[in-house]
Amino acid sequence: MPRPPQKSPRSSGVVPAGDPLAGLDFASGANPVRRALDDPARGVWLYQGNCLEVLDALADRHPDGVFDMIFADPPYFLSNGGITCHAGKMVKVDKGEWDKSRGADLNHEFNTEWLRRCQRVLKADGTIWVSGTHHVIFSVGYAMQQLGFKILNDITWEKPNPPPNLSCRYFTHSTETILWAAKTEKSRHCFNYQVMRQIAGGKQMKSVWRMTAPKSDEKRLGKHPTQKPVGLVERCILASTNEGDLVLDPFLGGGTTAVAAMETRRRCVGIELEDGNIKLAARRAAHAATLFNQSTNPEEKCRDAHSPSPMATD
Ligand SMILES: C[S@@+](CC[C@H](N)C(=O)[O-])C[C@H]1O[C@@H](n2cnc3c(N)ncnc32)[C@H](O)[C@@H]1O
Repeated sequence: MPRPPQKSPRSSGVVPAGDPLAGLDFASGANPVRRALDDPARGVWLYQGNCLEVLDALADRHPDGVFDMIFADPPYFLSNGGITCHAGKMVKVDKGEWDKSRGADLNHEFNTEWLRRCQRVLKADGTIWVSGTHHVIFSVGYAMQQLGFKILNDITWEKPNPPPNLSCRYFTHSTETILWAAKTEKSRHCFNYQVMRQIAGGKQMKSVWRMTAPKSDEKRLGKHPTQKPVGLVERCILASTNEGDLVLDPFLGGGTTAVAAMETRRRCVGIELEDGNIKLAARRAAHAATLFNQSTNPEEKCRDAHSPSPMATD
């Protein structure tokens, strides 16, 4: 059965139902921002531009916050000449210019600046999820503490089938961390306990989530070098928002959050710097729109890899 977006009890009437950036003139700035996708029917708006600039515009327009939840997968700062194994071959780690480290202090300054802006655009009870490896996640956690977020959980995403460590001088890297935090210590955050319990097979869900990296079906419209599995983002969305809520991804990449939001009937604003990535994101979101009215069961997709779900075969 089609599931039209429902108004969440937590979505206050003050929040506009349309694009929270509608009508803003970005074209004249030094770094033009352009709208790459406008889908009011599904509530999805994607922008190409620097998220710092777009977040400033959002904060000016919505001083009390506008987003129920943010999923951020920022640069990891790990493309610095190291090696990894891809498709059985030794290759240089090079995700792109955006992923090069500028040194611990500048990296931390960047993390603090985008997190400060995200905090401003969150609603009072809103939450943020930030994914990363050890290259970035300690800085993100420290910046969250400095800014007065309330850290709620550190989730470990365990990959059942990681690439081997070619140097044989380290353990095989097989996890990423996702920090979940509320806007402030006073926030009364949303946690859909029963939904998570159901996904966990009737038990309290633990903070270790076992899920495979995106499979080929999530890459058939093109792929992003650090693409997250849709099921991972869906689980974050299902845990912390209600249908019709508004989600932001300031580092949209290939559009995973937009797809996850559509599949769970949430509205979404995504921001991405690079042309090729935002085009991929728009393609994936447009494709997800064609499936919007078909029956889907996102709870099924975001089960753990060891649960008896047909979606989770390794
Ligand atoms: C780790 S990737 C996100 C991948 C995404 N989660 C996915 O599943 O496809 C980070 C993305 O942030 C983008 N980016 C880097 N700096 C940015 C900025 N200042 N504003 C907006 N996007 C930025 C990069 O181009 C890259 O695509």
